[in-house]
Amino acid sequence: MKFEKNILGIGAGYVGGPSMAIIAYKCPTYKVTVVDINPQRIAAWNSDDLPVYEPGLDAVIAATRGKNLFFSADIEAGIRENDIIFVNVNTPIKMFGAGAGMATDLQYWEKTARQILQYSRSSKIVIEKGTFPVKTALAMERILSNNKTVHFDVLSNPEFLSEGTALKDLENPDRVLIGFRETESGIKARDTLVEIYANWVPRERIITSNIWSSELSKLVSNAFLAQRISSINAISAFCEKTDADITEVARIVGMDSRLGNKFLNASVGFGGSCFKKDILSLVYLCRHYNLNEVADYWEGVIKINQYQQERFILNMLNAMFNTITGKKICLFGFAFKANTGDTRESPAIFVARRLLEEQAEIVISDPKALKNARNDLQLEGIAGKVSYIEDPYEAAQGCHAIAVLTEWDIYRDLDFQKIYGTMTKPTFIFDGRNILDHEKLFKIGFNVYPIGKPALVHF
Ligand code: NAD
Ligand code: UGA
Repeated sequence: MKFEKNILGIGAGYVGGPSMAIIAYKCPTYKVTVVDINPQRIAAWNSDDLPVYEPGLDAVIAATRGKNLFFSADIEAGIRENDIIFVNVNTPIKMFGAGAGMATDLQYWEKTARQILQYSRSSKIVIEKGTFPVKTALAMERILSNNKTVHFDVLSNPEFLSEGTALKDLENPDRVLIGFRETESGIKARDTLVEIYANWVPRERIITSNIWSSELSKLVSNAFLAQRISSINAISAFCEKTDADITEVARIVGMDSRLGNKFLNASVGFGGSCFKKDILSLVYLCRHYNLNEVADYWEGVIKINQYQQERFILNMLNAMFNTITGKKICLFGFAFKANTGDTRESPAIFVARRLLEEQAEIVISDPKALKNARNDLQLEGIAGKVSYIEDPYEAAQGCHAIAVLTEWDIYRDLDFQKIYGTMTKPTFIFDGRNILDHEKLFKIGFNVYPIGKPALVHF
């Protein structure tokens, strides 16, 4: 069968897999190939055990894989045979050398640019789908311009999906952003990409902009979202000192239509692979341009997030008579949010490390993230008495306390009377997501510590 367009995705991770799969799903006349340098990842995409857990993803893969969606480890052939290339590779925080701990590590992106340069035999549209520092497209253009016989157009098309709702976000995005160069071929490339998305996204939601605004808007969108969480978390600390209730405050503030009610859930802190890294990237860029006050402002969002996580631990310690040595604490949830198995930058990693430093014993429970939790503890060299038990009833048995770290729905509906009966007394519950019925738990006998509201304590 001859396909109308041949599209390649480089990088088969949390963004590359689902976003390329949706293009294939929505555009049956296009052929979509996804390549990765990690052959195990490709093998997993070709198996029944997908490397990424996302609600609805199995069905989309089942409907497309082997028909117009292909996962392959052959990067060279992928580049040669496709003329539209989405770059979905990871852009983590650089952990060494200049900018260590702040700047974006561009080695994966740069390797990809060089592979495209090396294997291309015909003109290509190269699309930045990952999140990159402002002006990365310029560096991409400079690398690609070394091939004098092939023409490349570079577009910025940052992805705004959230994990756990990735499929919904991809099928029904608030906006699709395309940054382009105002040249004849730049405009043509832009129109080609608009045409792809227009297969399922209403035209008015496909917006175009100058390429640097596009790159910057992605960083800024994440910075604003994270800023809202740090704002509400900062106020949650204030609530705990004054008997105000953060849920009420958030509801009242969020009813102002200028502010809106989303992203105002106080928590143990935000996690995920992007908020921290993207704000640090913004801060690093600001410092590069000598905008130190601007950098300090955004750095505050990260500092409050760290403060919130540490505050959670100190509250636990304080509540449990200033010692948790030898106590058994059950963590309900390890993923950085519900409906994903992803644990990157999860507050649970920090909580686990700090509890073990205090020589507590921990039991980790999570419906999807136990494999990643084990890897994290191993990779981060976090040692101590740890067990992994998926069933929350079994996990809580004999524990002195439960800490709710992920807002999985299953935790809302547990039989806490039954759980209480099997736990050590006095029994504590620290609701790091404010998802439980605190009054009910208190009546059962728990000492209850929510975020940003008065604790309910029996002594
Ligand atoms: P990821 O680590 O899950 O996936 C990246 C993949 O790229 C990995 O499988 C890796 O092996 C592969 N890769 C690296 N170098 C390669 C190369 N030279 N050739 C082929 N494959 C290569 O990362 P992710 O979470 O999918 O994020 C990708 C990008 O998207 C990042 O820039 C991130 O900031 C951005 N983003 C992520 C999310 C999210 O929810 N995870 C949402 C929006 C944007
Ligand atoms: C976030 C953005 O929401 C996406 O738009 C963006 O594309 C993505 O980052 C990215 O660039 O990677 P994601 O990290 O997957 O998506 O998940 P979010 O829903 O934003 O949650 C991030 C963290 O904030 C989670 O730990 C979550 O539990 C926490 N959170 C969220 C709160 O603590 N309170 C809230 O009110 C909302």
